[in-house]
Amino acid sequence: MVLEPAQIASIFDPVSTPAAEIYTLSMLLLAICAAIFVAVAGLTAYCVVAFRRRADDDGREPPQIYGSNPIELAWTVLPLLIVFVLFLVTTRTLLAVQKAPPPPGTLHVTVIGHQWWWEFRYPDLGIVTANELHVPVGRAGDRRPTYLRLESVDVVHSFWIPQLNGKTDVIPNRVNTMWIEPLRPGLFLGQCAEYCGTQHAHMLLRVIAHEPAEFDAWVASQRAPAAVDAAAASGRALFDSLACINCHRVGGTVADGAFGPDLTHLMTRATIGAGVAANTPANLRAWVANPDQLKPGVLMPAMKLSAAEIDQVVAYLTTLQ
Ligand code: CUA
Repeated sequence: MVLEPAQIASIFDPVSTPAAEIYTLSMLLLAICAAIFVAVAGLTAYCVVAFRRRADDDGREPPQIYGSNPIELAWTVLPLLIVFVLFLVTTRTLLAVQKAPPPPGTLHVTVIGHQWWWEFRYPDLGIVTANELHVPVGRAGDRRPTYLRLESVDVVHSFWIPQLNGKTDVIPNRVNTMWIEPLRPGLFLGQCAEYCGTQHAHMLLRVIAHEPAEFDAWVASQRAPAAVDAAAASGRALFDSLACINCHRVGGTVADGAFGPDLTHLMTRATIGAGVAANTPANLRAWVANPDQLKPGVLMPAMKLSAAEIDQVVAYLTTLQ
């Protein structure tokens, strides 16, 4: 696995504007509920101790009291006020998280859920990539949020990067939206949060937040045409002759499939198989030989290639910088 333990995602460490809004609201709700708990549990404990059965009890019923306007008013008005405050702060957060209009300079990305990987399309930049979402970092005077348009080609998934925003379902034949705005550079981990089949647990997400200049460099690298390396010509010819091209795209070649991840700049990604393995030549080789071994149930078939053919294909794939 390539999950870095130090980066286990936590909702208690928000680094994005909407995540911070949700965190603040959660803490307020927790504080109010904790205060109610302490008051109720404290009174209960006091009554249990103060009015316990004593040795000198005469066994008679205590005086019965019926009706008290001040007390009844208090236990009606106080909860009403609390619920009203909760309603106001929750509505405020909902509006801030879900209805915020995209400011100028917003990056738009279409996220497409597949069994079991994520496709990322940057329609304004002409970039298509998978599983690793690159976005710029924003500052107070220089906001650069990313608005996500969530779609699914098969079943219901859920897009969740705990440090950047709450989870949003990704539903076939429906478009949901959400936005993120990382305020410091870094790698933020997430995962599909809705059971979507055998490999739901291996439908991982990586968001890489870059300083603006670094993000521009990444954009330029992704917009460049696929590398052509004469040394890998035989592997490329083999790849282009196989069914690989029905599912995968490599820009500028006959490979134009859309069922699997775009491989044009495969080697710029840190992981393969939606985060199941580091993107190393050895893992690529194991993956091409038998994807099912790394990710049981994966929809990519083993192509039944000879060892020499696998070497050729992997040699070609590793040139796709
Ligand atoms: Cu996709 Cu769970």
